[in-house]
Amino acid sequence: MPDWRNQHLVVAIDGPAASGKSSTAQWVASRIGFRHVDSGALYRAATAAALRSGVPPAEWTPGFVLEQAARVSLTPSETSFVPVIDGESITEEIRGGEVTSNVSEVAQMQVVRGWVNHHVRDVATRFDVVVDGRDMGTAVFPDADLKVYLVADPWERARRRLAQRLQRKPSDVEIAQETETLVKRDAADATQTVQARDAVLVDTTLLTQSEQVDRIVALAQAMIQRRE
Ligand code: CDP
Repeated sequence: MPDWRNQHLVVAIDGPAASGKSSTAQWVASRIGFRHVDSGALYRAATAAALRSGVPPAEWTPGFVLEQAARVSLTPSETSFVPVIDGESITEEIRGGEVTSNVSEVAQMQVVRGWVNHHVRDVATRFDVVVDGRDMGTAVFPDADLKVYLVADPWERARRRLAQRLQRKPSDVEIAQETETLVKRDAADATQTVQARDAVLVDTTLLTQSEQVDRIVALAQAMIQRRE
């Protein structure tokens, strides 16, 4: 284990767009008493900060986005670390359509990837963590104590994301449109979305939220027992 890890435990949950990583990671963290860090929320926060500048996305350079991202910090709550801009909550802003349609481009910028990875690793030097994203179990924590790769059928991922956003049952036309958007984002994120060879694959297509949380909590508890 590298020195900077300082003996804290890491559960890494990766997977494609809307596979349920963040909500699952949040529940798992609170059940096992770890802190949750959502790396995708940091990419989204950097994107939101750049959008707030008013400079059009076509003109963003990696250096410019990094400069804007300096206004983002991670605020601790009891069970997680959430990004804020200039101390202000951005929970809703980072889920908006403008952020979502520009985030993949920002996530291709190596300096931004370095910035996100620094923040996530920094929390892991101080706390046991559940981290989620695309490359947590590969590029960021190749020696994570437990790695999970969440997948689900694209139609089902689109249906869940819409139901959450609209707070009602989406129509088939809406699901078809959202599926197309998700599949495009999967393609844009393909380079960094990698299943680690030692990750446990969990297909959540036919699982309820609580079943998938239970499954990962059981894996995490077995890992914690082995470490004690
Ligand atoms: O919407 P979803 O939950 O799938 O995405 P997210 O986890 O909020 O991540 C938003 C975007 O950040 C992704 O579309 C990727 O472009 C990028 N990302 C990344 O490149 N690497 C990560 N470890 C996490 C997110």
